[in-house]
Amino acid sequence: MKWHVLRPLWLAIGVLAAILVARQFLVPDDFGVHGPSFTYNYHRLSNVQEWKDFPVKYLGREYCADCHRRNVRRLNRSSAHSKVECENCHGPGAGHPEEITALPINTSREQCLRCHALLDYPENGRSVVPGIVDRMHMRRRDCVECHNPHDPREERK
Ligand code: HEC
Ligand code: HEC
Ligand code: HEC
Ligand code: HEC
Repeated sequence: MKWHVLRPLWLAIGVLAAILVARQFLVPDDFGVHGPSFTYNYHRLSNVQEWKDFPVKYLGREYCADCHRRNVRRLNRSSAHSKVECENCHGPGAGHPEEITALPINTSREQCLRCHALLDYPENGRSVVPGIVDRMHMRRRDCVECHNPHDPREERK
């Protein structure tokens, strides 16, 4: 064969060999040691523990119930917001109350309009979350003056 054919061929073989050697050093020892399985094939075994140790930020309302029983009971009972998590409005509970003595309370209209801004749906599909038009619904007043955030169908004076 001609040199100009062989030379790139040798080069390709050389690169391939370099990759195989580098792989020996770079791939961690616990990669793929668990044998073939359809779902969780190639992964690093220690990665499983790393995800187990991952700090959880959102704890769920059962956690709040220990100390804010009244609010949790209110939300759980017949509230229109029973499906909305406490931490959706108050932020993640991790570290509260030990390091973060109080979670934030946001009474702005924007807080509620995240979910209640009226969306333009096609004629026959209507959202399960009732929407309002910001500038037509009781402008310049906080929503919570009239709606209890923990039980929004309740009348507020
Ligand atoms: C171990 C008890 C405890 C747990 C669990 C707990 N809290 Fe609290 N929380 C407190 C204490 C104590 C305060 C500060 C005292 C106060 O202002 O009522 C507080 C304050 C707050 C405040 C501010 C109240 C205010 O008037 O300024 C909010 C909001 C709040 N917590 C929400 C939550 C949510 C949501 C959860 C669940 C993710 C939660 N808390 C879990 C004890 C707890
Ligand atoms: C839809 C948003 C929303 C959800 C969901 C929500 N909150 Fe609130 N929360 C508010 C707002 C807004 C205020 C301030 C109310 C006001 O000033 O009238 C408040 C006030 C509070 C307060 C201080 C006043 C009080 O009632 O003691 C606590 C504590 C609190 N929330 C805990 C909780 C807990 C626990 C949950 C879950 C069971 C929860 N919240 C769910 C929006 C929410
Ligand atoms: C995370 C999304 C979310 C947020 C944030 C939220 N809501 Fe809601 N809201 C809902 C859902 C879901 C419903 C229940 C829809 C149903 O099942 O009928 C609801 C129901 C309501 C209703 C009852 C409407 C009716 O007559 O049926 C009112 C009023 C209301 N919300 C006001 C508020 C106010 C005020 C705030 C701010 C403090 C707020 N919402 C924040 C999701 C949200
Ligand atoms: C001045 C008092 C007042 C304020 C402020 C207010 N609302 Fe209302 N809202 C009402 C009353 C009264 C009704 C029921 C009559 C109606 O349907 O218009 C209502 C109805 C609703 C409904 C149900 C609409 C439906 O189609 O079923 C939602 C959702 C709602 N409000 C969300 C909000 C949000 C979000 C804010 C803040 C951006 C807010 N409201 C501010 C008094 C208020």
